[in-house]
Formats: sequence, structure tokens, C-alpha cells
Amino acid sequence: MAEPTVIPQRGKTTEPATIVLAGATGDLGFRIAQALLKRGAAVRALVRAGNTKPEVTLLRDLGADIIEVDFNSVTALTNACAGAACVVSALSGLRDVIVDGQKRLLDAAVAAGVPRFIPSDYSIDYTKLSNGSNRNLDLRREFNQRLDQAPIQATSILNGMFTDLLTGQAPVVLFGVKRVLYYGDADQPLDFTTTANAAEFTAAAALDPTTPRYLRVAGEVATVRGLQAAATAATGQPFKLLRVGPLGVLGAMIKVTKALMPSTDEVFPPWQGMQYLHNMFTGLPKLTPLDNARYPDIRWTPVREVLAAKK
Ligand SMILES: NC(=O)c1ccc[n+]([C@@H]2O[C@H](COP(=O)([O-])OP(=O)(O)OC[C@H]3O[C@@H](n4cnc5c(N)ncnc54)[C@H](OP(=O)(O)O)[C@@H]3O)[C@@H](O)[C@H]2O)c1
Repeated sequence: MAEPTVIPQRGKTTEPATIVLAGATGDLGFRIAQALLKRGAAVRALVRAGNTKPEVTLLRDLGADIIEVDFNSVTALTNACAGAACVVSALSGLRDVIVDGQKRLLDAAVAAGVPRFIPSDYSIDYTKLSNGSNRNLDLRREFNQRLDQAPIQATSILNGMFTDLLTGQAPVVLFGVKRVLYYGDADQPLDFTTTANAAEFTAAAALDPTTPRYLRVAGEVATVRGLQAAATAATGQPFKLLRVGPLGVLGAMIKVTKALMPSTDEVFPPWQGMQYLHNMFTGLPKLTPLDNARYPDIRWTPVREVLAAKK
């Protein structure tokens, strides 16, 4: 799908497909906008009124239409969605955004007659997890139950952990002490996809009217031992493994961290990242089968390359 994509809209066959994008000023959303424009789509970026982030100007310069909209108004959102082939959400937040805000966006997409909706999931496979094991994914499962009842074709993109997190936020590859820290089994396969690859795939999916309910991708499936080899190859320095304990230890640490630092209004308090790691190390949310080959022009960035860029 390297060629600009043209989807027939309202009886016309020559206009590029219009994709409505919520969250285009965010890290992932901005990259989705870039990837959509590269594929020839018309991008309508919905932004909150008064947003002065540099991304707004950058998006406009790239050719996106910037629509300032009241995200609390279904009527305003409906007007903003008119004529689109797909609504893509890359919003980030807690219940007010992921459940309530996306519900308004969904209602608007349906009211405007938009045929397709991609929610802000971009995660490990939450369909395999039970409530209570990961707060942020509980919210996504809740929203998706509503999405499944709506008269619209829905596609969720599941991409595992953003590989980029391995160079900073996720305490797994410890560059200072040259260790790969883990709990449980060093041979458990884990899914990693760069933010850029997730954005490219989402853009391709947004322009593809034949997508199924779920699409699962992983730029690389790596075990902890694989991460050790990648870190060693990327830095030229030998990395060792550091097993903190069985998964139960991480579970107990999550409980203690939650009690000490509840931070219930933060999207990513420390215990939230730990919940993701715990989920991944159980193997339950492992993505399978993978749809990596669906858009053959996407080149999947390996973990080693991301770690090497950290040097
Ligand atoms: N799998 C992974 O490892 C991983 C890692 C990171 C993120 N993600 C997921 O990727 C998605 C996007 O995350 P991100 O990191 O790109 O988020 P981000 O950089 O924080 O961007 C969030 C976007 O949502 C918008 N937004 C937030 N609250 C809003 C509200 N109440 N009304 C309207 N717009 C609102 C922001 O707009 P403003 O510019 O107005 O603030 C911004 O455009 C999320 O689903 C997130 O969970 C996955």
C-alpha cells in the first residue's frame, strides 16, 4: 500500500479518503497524522480549542485540516466527522477520556454516518486479561464493549509495548548497570512495536475498509534473553540478566506501590507501568496471530535498532 489510497466516498471515486483523527497533537497521534498524509489521505485533526502546542502548526504545515472542537459536544463532534471514511482515536487519558470522551466521539461518528472507527487501544491484548489486572486496559475493555454494540465497523490495533519505552520509562533494560531486569520466566515471548511502526500500521488500517475487529502486530517478539542479546549487540557491552523473583513478587510490589502512591488521577503512575509488565510476563496478553504482513510496505524496526539509538 505504498500508493496514495483512494477510497470511494459519497459516490465519488477520485477524492482521497478523509480520516478524522482525535489526539493528533499527541506522540502517537502526530505520527499517525504524518503516516496518513504520506499515504495520500486527507487528515482532519480534531484539537481542543485553544491548543497552542507546536504540533498544531506542524500539522497544518503538513497539510492537515485543523478543526478546533468542543470534545464535550456530540453535536460539534458530529459536524466535525461529516463525510469521513474512518474516525481514528489516539486520545490518552483515564475514564473521562477513554470511556466518556471516546463514547461521545463514537456517538458522533455514528450520527455522521462514518462507516469505521479505530479506538485508542494500541496495547497488549487486553481481551485476554481479567478486570483488575491493569486499570488502563480495564477502561479500554469497557469502551470496546460499547463500541461492539454500536452500528459501526470497529478495528482495534494491538501492538504490545512501545519499544521506545525500553530506552527510558520501562525499567527492563538497565543501561547503567548493564542488566536486563525481569520477573518470572526469561523465555516468555513479549511483543514490542515502535511508536512509529504502530502509527504507520494504524494509518494503513484506517485507509483499509476491509479490516477485521482486531489487528495484532509486533515489530519484534523477544524474550528477556532476546532483549539481553539485543542490548549486548546494540551497545557492544555484555548485558547480564537480573531476575528479581517470581511474578508474585512483582504482584506484591504493585500492591505496595499502589498503597504508597495511589496517584489515581495520573494516566501512568509508577504502578501502572508495573501492571503492564506483570501482564506481559504472564504471557496471557501475548499477541497471536500477528498481522504484520498485512501492509507489506511497512518495515518493522527491531528492538536492537531502538536500543542502539540510545547510545
Ligand atoms: N503500548 C504502549 O506501550 C503505549 C505507550 C504509550 C502510549 N500508548 C497508547 O497510545 C495512545 C496515545 O498515547 P500518547 O502517548 O500518544 O498520548 P499523548 O502524547 O499524551 O497524547 C494524548 C492526546 O490526547 C489528547 N487529549 C487528552 N485528553 C483529552 C481530552 N480530554 N479531550 C480531547 N483531547 C484530549 C491530547 O490533546 P492535547 O494536545 O489537547 O493535550 C493529545 O492529542 C493511548 O491509547 C496510549 O495508551 C501505548
